[in-house]
Amino acid sequence: MERVLLFILAASVDAQIRIVGPTNCSGRVEVFYSRVWGTVCDDGWDIKDVSVVCRQVGCSPPFDGPGLAFFGVGIGPIWLDDVSCSGSESSLDSCSHSTVGIHNCVHDEDAGVVCEAFQIRLSGPSNCSGRVEVYYGGTWGTVCDGSWDINDAKAVCREVGCDPAFDAPTQALFGEGTGPVWLDNVDCSGSENSLSDCPSSGFGNQSCAHSQDAGVVCEDLKVRLSGPTSCSGRVEVYYGGVWGTVCDQGFDMNDAEVVCREVGCEAAYGVRSQAYFGQGTGSIWLSDVDCLGSENNLSDCSHSGFGNNLCAHINDVGVYCEAIFKKVVKLKVVQTSTVDLNEAAVQEDLLKQVTENLKDNGVNEDVKVEWVKQSDGKIFQEDEIKKNENLFK
Ligand SMILES: *[C@@H]1O[C@H](CO)[C@@H](O)[C@H](O)[C@H]1NC(C)=O
Ligand SMILES: *[C@@H]1O[C@H](CO)[C@@H](O)[C@H](O)[C@H]1NC(C)=O
Ligand SMILES: *[C@@H]1O[C@H](CO)[C@@H](O)[C@H](O)[C@H]1NC(C)=O
Ligand SMILES: *[C@@H]1O[C@H](CO)[C@@H](O)[C@H](O)[C@H]1NC(C)=O
Repeated sequence: MERVLLFILAASVDAQIRIVGPTNCSGRVEVFYSRVWGTVCDDGWDIKDVSVVCRQVGCSPPFDGPGLAFFGVGIGPIWLDDVSCSGSESSLDSCSHSTVGIHNCVHDEDAGVVCEAFQIRLSGPSNCSGRVEVYYGGTWGTVCDGSWDINDAKAVCREVGCDPAFDAPTQALFGEGTGPVWLDNVDCSGSENSLSDCPSSGFGNQSCAHSQDAGVVCEDLKVRLSGPTSCSGRVEVYYGGVWGTVCDQGFDMNDAEVVCREVGCEAAYGVRSQAYFGQGTGSIWLSDVDCLGSENNLSDCSHSGFGNNLCAHINDVGVYCEAIFKKVVKLKVVQTSTVDLNEAAVQEDLLKQVTENLKDNGVNEDVKVEWVKQSDGKIFQEDEIKKNENLFK
């Protein structure tokens, strides 16, 4: 007996899909139905839909799904609307969506995908300082300085593997970049591992010029003296990968104390203005430095902002962190009262008087006077001859 087997073969083929954009992994999403390429509307478009598209075209990781024709308006039909994938589908076709060709969209709402990792780099004089540049959707661009601060720098410094975050310069301190300005109003808490984890206005949503490009300095301020000896010379500071100088405006002995401490020299003996130790080159990083004198580092002192001054190198400041010359003077004091000259307070008071007296007599303002201990460890010794003379008075 013959048996007749009837069957129906239902075959379906996923619609073709392509990425039209700056790279083959970032761009506008296009689908092929009825032998015509068309676009996808961004209504309900999210990262789950993006992950399906990225998988289907063989790109990873799924990073973002910009709408509003971010990658330009397409032409032809708008094939899909209200796409809603669970994320595990193997094709966009098998996600839930409106009937093919039925939509309430215009091409200004064309959806796109970014199936490439966010990247970051610093463009600057050193590996750890420079203009912040980010790679998004196939193109390197910059970050606008709107609300840019040290917390944002912390996330960037961590991401590029440089520590610590020292400063968050604005206004294209490291020069103007090119390409799109990708981010603005970045608002990191400081604990993020990537700038892409920080809230912002969204990629490309800004109205900034490259003159507002943001930067980071992920290295500590360094200080050195460029001068005739290791403990005297022009004050130079390293900031953002570049050695520069300090303006003499407002620079006093308190500031010198901090510089001398930081460079590991004896103590501050004098300030010299107007490029006394010669003019430096490069940036003039600091002006109006105002230390209390007790700070350990110049970076703890207030100032007018790195590079923010109208000084010229003719105003480069220098310091003496060692005695310029030392002269030992023997002093005879005739004691007329019963105070103990070997008491610290008495000596201090006396020293002040001597110092003032020297200054009144035209000795340099910066003169530093100190007592010298004698062989018995004391500063004052009785003069035996005088003592005897006195006996006969
Ligand atoms: C994208 O294009 C590049 C260069 O044309 C190629 O090397 C790469 O394999 C492509 N990637 C995919 C996922 O097609
Ligand atoms: C910067 O990084 C490169 C590559 O990692 C390295 O070869 C170079 O020495 C670094 N330069 C500085 C100044 O650290
Ligand atoms: C663009 O940025 C502004 C200001 O931060 C914000 O109010 C607006 O919602 C953003 N637009 C989009 C599409 O994200
Ligand atoms: C601060 O100054 C001290 C020397 O007084 C130095 O050892 C230290 O490294 C400095 N710290 C920074 C962050 O520069």
